[in-house]
Amino acid sequence: MAKKVTKAIFPVAGLGTRFLPATKSVPKEIMTLVDRPLVQYAIDEARAAGIKEFIFVTSRGKGALEDYFDHSPVLEQELRSKGKTELMEILKSTNMDSGAIAYIRQHKALGLGHAVWCARRLIGNEPFAVMLPDDVIAADKPCLQQMIEAYNETGGNMVAAMEVDPEKSSSYGMLDIDEGQTDGELVKVKGMVEKPKAEDAPSNLAVIGRYILSPNVLKNLNQLKSGSGGEIQLTDAIAAELTQGNDVYGYRFKGQRFDCGSKSGFLQATVSFGLAREELRDDLRAYLQDIMQGETAAQ
Ligand code: G1P
Repeated sequence: MAKKVTKAIFPVAGLGTRFLPATKSVPKEIMTLVDRPLVQYAIDEARAAGIKEFIFVTSRGKGALEDYFDHSPVLEQELRSKGKTELMEILKSTNMDSGAIAYIRQHKALGLGHAVWCARRLIGNEPFAVMLPDDVIAADKPCLQQMIEAYNETGGNMVAAMEVDPEKSSSYGMLDIDEGQTDGELVKVKGMVEKPKAEDAPSNLAVIGRYILSPNVLKNLNQLKSGSGGEIQLTDAIAAELTQGNDVYGYRFKGQRFDCGSKSGFLQATVSFGLAREELRDDLRAYLQDIMQGETAAQ
């Protein structure tokens, strides 16, 4: 039986330049889908999967993220005194246990692999999860939970995987797999390459931002030189597991992934999560139908 996964790393040091000017003062991870910050979706998914320790790799200017996870007694008191119990409950559900969150600074933007490596002392010698909050996944059973259940049977390393348009290969880590593994959730990975050109992609199966990794990957990161884009790549450290004879699996999760690192993905997620909310659904649907029929949208 694989060792239990209780720690997760959230790399959130990026500048979020694609969302400028908003990200001048608001960390991208705090931007809201409907009424919850992006990072809350990742935290809820991690909690559902049994994660107990949450390690944020941050950078300068991410103070709002730390504040977000702080308890807010004044606000709670105010809501309590006004009898707003529903809002109180929402607020409370975001509270984290004391000591459950740690923040590590990534002092230089040297890539995702480097960000994960910055958390090595907090991980120690245990398997751990990595969650990229930009990838928001709507699913009946949260994606990381699906993966942890599979990982409990396989051990090794596991990455979330999804088929993408080959033209988009250069935006992802791409998996090399044996032919014939066209269906089923688990695929055995033979190799991995970060952001290849379409013609060099070994398959159309891409890595999505959920990983369960053996602590050996942190040792591999120690040895790594910069790879694709001049950055230290997590993909390369996982690929090194294969050359050392350790297993890597791709897991085709059930669910819909939104790339909230892009504006279009963020807007799509906003609409989709809005439609999923009972109190918003009817209004939003009517509005969308109107504008799709070419009626004038509210100005
Ligand atoms: C990162 C990883 C890449 C992965 C992607 C998933 O890239 O390096 O392997 O496919 O996340 O979203 P990024 O999108 O941060 O450039």
